[in-house]
Amino acid sequence: MSLLRVGRPVLRHRIAGFQAPRNGARTRFWTGAGAVGVALGVLAATWQPISLDAEPQSEEEGTTQPSGQKLISMREVEKHNTRDDCWVVIQGYVYDVTDFLSLHPGGAGVILQHAGDDATEVFKPLHPPNTLEENLRPDQQLGPVDPTTVVSKAPRPLTDDEKRVRNAREEMPPLEGMIDLQDFEELAEKVLSKTAWAYYRSAVFYNNEAAWKRYFFRPRVLRSARFVDPSSTMLGMPVSIPVYVSPAAMAKLGHPLGEVNITRAAGKAGIIQGISANASCSLEEMVDAQTEDQNLIFQIYLNKDRSASERLLKKVEDLGCKAIMFTVDAPVSGNRTMDIRAKGVVEQAPPSAKDDKNKSAAPVGIAQAISGYQDDNLVWDDIAFIRKNTKLPILVKGIQCVEDAELAAKHGVEAIILSNHGGRQLNFAPAPIDILWEIRQQKPDLFNKMEIYVDGGVKHGTDVVKALALGAKGVGLGRAFLYANGTYGEEGCDKTIDIMKKEICTAMALVGAHTVKDLKPEMVKPLGFVPATV
Ligand code: LAC
Repeated sequence: MSLLRVGRPVLRHRIAGFQAPRNGARTRFWTGAGAVGVALGVLAATWQPISLDAEPQSEEEGTTQPSGQKLISMREVEKHNTRDDCWVVIQGYVYDVTDFLSLHPGGAGVILQHAGDDATEVFKPLHPPNTLEENLRPDQQLGPVDPTTVVSKAPRPLTDDEKRVRNAREEMPPLEGMIDLQDFEELAEKVLSKTAWAYYRSAVFYNNEAAWKRYFFRPRVLRSARFVDPSSTMLGMPVSIPVYVSPAAMAKLGHPLGEVNITRAAGKAGIIQGISANASCSLEEMVDAQTEDQNLIFQIYLNKDRSASERLLKKVEDLGCKAIMFTVDAPVSGNRTMDIRAKGVVEQAPPSAKDDKNKSAAPVGIAQAISGYQDDNLVWDDIAFIRKNTKLPILVKGIQCVEDAELAAKHGVEAIILSNHGGRQLNFAPAPIDILWEIRQQKPDLFNKMEIYVDGGVKHGTDVVKALALGAKGVGLGRAFLYANGTYGEEGCDKTIDIMKKEICTAMALVGAHTVKDLKPEMVKPLGFVPATV
């Protein structure tokens, strides 16, 4: 029996996520199985073979499979296209998102633009595969769409930005040509979509990179530069270099495999990855991509619904993550105009969107779209809440002054990260290296009470060596990995770690340190610093 009936507009039906067989084929396949890896989670609950041999009973009702599995007709889906009754298809599966509209972190508008339609293309780069399963009740997960009722749409013409990206990617230089992290950043600006670049790069007043340049070395010579060992530990875990991946979201905007590329590179190199709570891959995917002795730590934003945070903390521990990075510098979102403008220009609904009156009032950037669940009511007692719900060590990320570093020590956390969230939050927030210097000058005893890390604007191994000399236990790189991943994927991340390692070793040799322990505060001074004793 032919699968595709005469008179249908095209012979080849395409649903994002899987491909119907060509005319006449007698094939059984699994919902979503045609799309590499996309079936995880979302479709697991309904993992049933779909036979395309059956004709739909009716265009309205769809097909009931011999197994009893009911396939939903696209004609039926199309009827549910309002705020009061909103269905969408994602990767071949139909969801009733009516009740979820008001809960969607990115607002109802973006969903309503696809009400009664296939939303896979906008969903996929922004959400881990199990998002829907975790956020929708079972009764809202309606069932597989009937592929024989899906009418192919003419391929959407490429936007100007997509054409620019395609052309730029065709002209990518070989990876070997990437000499330092600045090379990756400059290439990323050329080859990433406008949305991705703006989200990754966006910041408010950005002082972090400039601040590293205000600190100079006081090198020691004639100590032999032959052997240098940059290895160290983080919270007792061995690391090949004291550099870790700062949690940064949405790696799939730059590469379809997303954060998993970073996990693989970190595993090979023996460094620790901080996993973003807002990653575009699922935690399970990253855990699966680990090497046997790899260590992952998880960044958490506390949820307005603390029971959701409790469940998440348990899951993170069950999946074997080694520490919790509690982020405290983003209780509300900074005004990231670059991110907002890029989204506004590139992806806002056209005026003819299906449900105009319900469109979001103002454009939001990616950052706001993904962070709606985050609690703005964060207080010091939340450390006790996290402690109660996990046995894992806690790093408080986002400390920005000496007083709060002291408070964190009083609250007994194992570590703090001096961070202003990559300069993405508060205009005129202090640069992490300046906070580190302040602690070194004013409260050096804090370095004995807990481990102190820094992140923000790190572009060179010398930045890392300066921080280590002043007492930091390790240094985080966030954007650098997004740029490496967004240009060359996993290999770009490998190369980034390699570049950092070489730069760190060279700097250590040239300041007279054989091991990380040999790096001392007196090896670094800020520009204009006049020593108390000469
Ligand atoms: C950001 C959030 C996701 O900075 O941490 O974009």
